[in-house]
Amino acid sequence: MVEQPARCTEERRACCCVFPIVSLENYSLWNIVIMASDDIAQLADALSKTHVGDGELSYKGLGLKLDNAESVEELVCEIEQYHGLRALRLEGNTVGVDAARAIAKALESKDQLQRCYWSDMFTGRLRSEIPTALRSLGSALMSAGARLTELDLSDNAFGPDGVKGIEQLLKSPSCHTLRELRLNNCGMGIGGGKILAEALIECHRQSLAHGAPLKLRVFIAGRNRLENEGASALAKAFQVIGSLEEVHMPQNGINYAGVMALASAMRHNPELRLLNLNDNTFTKRGTLAMAQALRHLRNVQVINFGDCLVRSEGAIALAAVLREGLPILKELNLSFGEITEAAALVVAQAVTDKPHMEKVDLNGNCLGEEGCEALREAMENMDKGDMLASLSDDEGEPDDEGEEDEDDHENDDDYDDDDASDDCNEDNEEAGEIVKENGITRKDDSPAKPQSPPEITSFLSCPSAEKLLQLGEMRTDLQQTVDASDPHKAADVLLKIASLYSEEPETKSAVFETIDAVLKKLLSGSALQSYCFLSTLLVTMGILKGEGKVKKVSLVPGQLLCLEHAVQQEYFPQHHASLLYTFMSKKSEALESCSSASENLSSTLEKKCHGQRLSH
Ligand SMILES: *[C@@H]1O[C@H](CO)[C@@H](O)[C@H](O)[C@H]1NC(C)=O
Repeated sequence: MVEQPARCTEERRACCCVFPIVSLENYSLWNIVIMASDDIAQLADALSKTHVGDGELSYKGLGLKLDNAESVEELVCEIEQYHGLRALRLEGNTVGVDAARAIAKALESKDQLQRCYWSDMFTGRLRSEIPTALRSLGSALMSAGARLTELDLSDNAFGPDGVKGIEQLLKSPSCHTLRELRLNNCGMGIGGGKILAEALIECHRQSLAHGAPLKLRVFIAGRNRLENEGASALAKAFQVIGSLEEVHMPQNGINYAGVMALASAMRHNPELRLLNLNDNTFTKRGTLAMAQALRHLRNVQVINFGDCLVRSEGAIALAAVLREGLPILKELNLSFGEITEAAALVVAQAVTDKPHMEKVDLNGNCLGEEGCEALREAMENMDKGDMLASLSDDEGEPDDEGEEDEDDHENDDDYDDDDASDDCNEDNEEAGEIVKENGITRKDDSPAKPQSPPEITSFLSCPSAEKLLQLGEMRTDLQQTVDASDPHKAADVLLKIASLYSEEPETKSAVFETIDAVLKKLLSGSALQSYCFLSTLLVTMGILKGEGKVKKVSLVPGQLLCLEHAVQQEYFPQHHASLLYTFMSKKSEALESCSSASENLSSTLEKKCHGQRLSH
């Protein structure tokens, strides 16, 4: 048996409670008030000795087994005596229904209580007991008129019903002031997530009506099996609340649909500092949606997408966001995400340019031994070797054979609807809200694209040098048919045009001219759009392993020669060239059929990237 807390000792007998006992706190307070008129310095001194303003009563970690009213007599006594109680720690004990009722009774007069640290306080209790106990405690807080700022109920395996136990409390004025809500590891499940979301929305609605809207800063709900539906419901609440600074929802079985919902909600929380979604399943689509959201969040310091299957294309999209946004990012966790070497290097280049960056974790990816070495070297060359977390769990280079099979079970789920939705569409964010119905996401209708002239349509359906020449002036109209928001089509069109390359001067110049017009447009948007386009281009060329079913082309030298021409042009930014160079300098089966064109492209890229370093 663990010892009872010894705080109530002297007053123990007097406590429950004929004469109200002036607590030590109040007594000192009174003294302080008198002193204050004499001597301010003394006041400060006295304040620091009596811990006025602390107001915390703690039973933390005592391992008390509190089953009934008798077992909490002393605790109740201490609560009752503690005038100005602001924080109550009950974590690490186990409280039964009757004990909770007795504690609740004592709390009914605690109108100044703000912080309830009530994690891990139902060990060994029946699931059915917990909601009842929570309801008693919650009712007491409400009738006391307490104004909570922190509520921690983590590690109470209360399940969906437990959420019902705090539903009324969460909706009540007692939670209008809530700043931190901790519900880690509570087994809430989809159902609990939905109830919680509704309660938070209601709390916000009512607090807003009272002129002081809920300003929740910290939300923690890791390990709760929220899945897509629970996460999407909560996303709605987050969007409404808009004041979040820290969101921790690791290990919740959320995949891209839930991640997309969370991403669009995060955009409405401009103060967001920390986002931890470790150990959920983003895949490419979820990662692109997150990348899109992160472009708008200027206060993010910590991103944990470790163990989230971010993959190479996702990593490249995040690198793009690092290029143009996230000005004060400190930590980025992209570990265990099936990211390959070149994509990891692109991330490394982007993080080393961030002034506040402290830690990047790329462990557990698919770099291979040489890749790990190259990454370490790259970081060290930029004098940022310390930033890189260990690479001790690298999974090795992906094994190309059987890659399709390996991926299929995941991708079936990812690609069950139209493939046009994995885009980098900037309008997507404005037209914005992803409409969710039964777990199916779709975008709001976008305006129909203008019809291309028949000559252009005919050229695109069956391209030939002859048709390209015949297009004459209309050639530059080809750029209107491409759009970085549909990178697959854009890559396809570009490669089609490039495949018509020939040494014959007229054709050559027509091809270059068209390529320039098309690429200029594709690279003129945000870094995110252009990186997405380039990574899609690399996937289509077979140089980067993409996700899902991708139509690959067999490369011809002319396509690489066109790229070589393009990268030398003014419109082709240095860091885009550097991205291409990172991929081109890796051996690739796809490039074998065009080895000399590919070597030329690499050395041209090297010159351009090297030139950049010298000019810095
Ligand atoms: C990143 O996430 C991984 C995987 O979940 C975890 O093991 C690792 O400790 C995290 N790294 C950092 C630097 O926090």
